[in-house]
Amino acid sequence: LARGVTEPDLVGRHVVVSAGGTREPLDPVRFLGNRSSGKQGYALARTAAARGARVTLIAANSTLPAPAGVDVVPVGTAVQLREAVLRAAPEADAVVMAAAVADFRPAAYAAGKIKKKDGQEPEPVTLVRNPDILAEISADRARPGQVVVGFAAETDDVLANGRAKLKRKGCDLLVVNEVGELKTFGSEENEAVVLGADGSETAVAHGPKEALAETVWDLVAERLN
Ligand code: CTP
Ligand code: CA
Repeated sequence: LARGVTEPDLVGRHVVVSAGGTREPLDPVRFLGNRSSGKQGYALARTAAARGARVTLIAANSTLPAPAGVDVVPVGTAVQLREAVLRAAPEADAVVMAAAVADFRPAAYAAGKIKKKDGQEPEPVTLVRNPDILAEISADRARPGQVVVGFAAETDDVLANGRAKLKRKGCDLLVVNEVGELKTFGSEENEAVVLGADGSETAVAHGPKEALAETVWDLVAERLN
């Protein structure tokens, strides 16, 4: 069958997909966030379900409607996303990290709203590193043969950065797309190259996020079978 043609090749498989963007709270009303819409992760969840998989979608701050037949686990922060992924991973044949995970979080959370003080400049916000979920699940595979997929949005030297990142993360596949002000974030469409740890490169032409999702599942299914 040609790429991009839906077939029930994921029947009997359980896949975990993370989507959206984490929010790292500063105080009860403010957070550090990012521009991920969740659309690519939801497209992955929808297409996997259409191909017969049981799907757990770990959704970080997304307001998109839950795809039919998909088990949605809502989370807020990177630490919560990590807990949800680690809880779901032991039963998963594949884990796809499409979520935009904040690299840093505020070192401290103010239990009360941070207020301005007369005549004073604000305190700097100290940040600490968040755990690297993709690197962690790639290093400690919850089951043998589990396929782990990462996403990377890059601006310069897209492919070289992607290759280096694939190695560093230790995942099987890395979907690399080029981002800019008008590209990818919030858009219905995407364009990417999927790099494989085996040296493969699969270009996906500019098109709907569903088409990229289908190619990701084609590559995952090849590795599972
Ligand atoms: N990721 C993750 N945990 C983090 C950061 C990222 O699991 N703390 C995952 C993302 O979900 C994505 C992949 O890692 O699948 C790549 O994210 P990216 O931000 O491109 O990678 P970083 O290692 O954070 O590199 P950079 O410094 O370029 O942001
Ligand atoms: Ca990052």
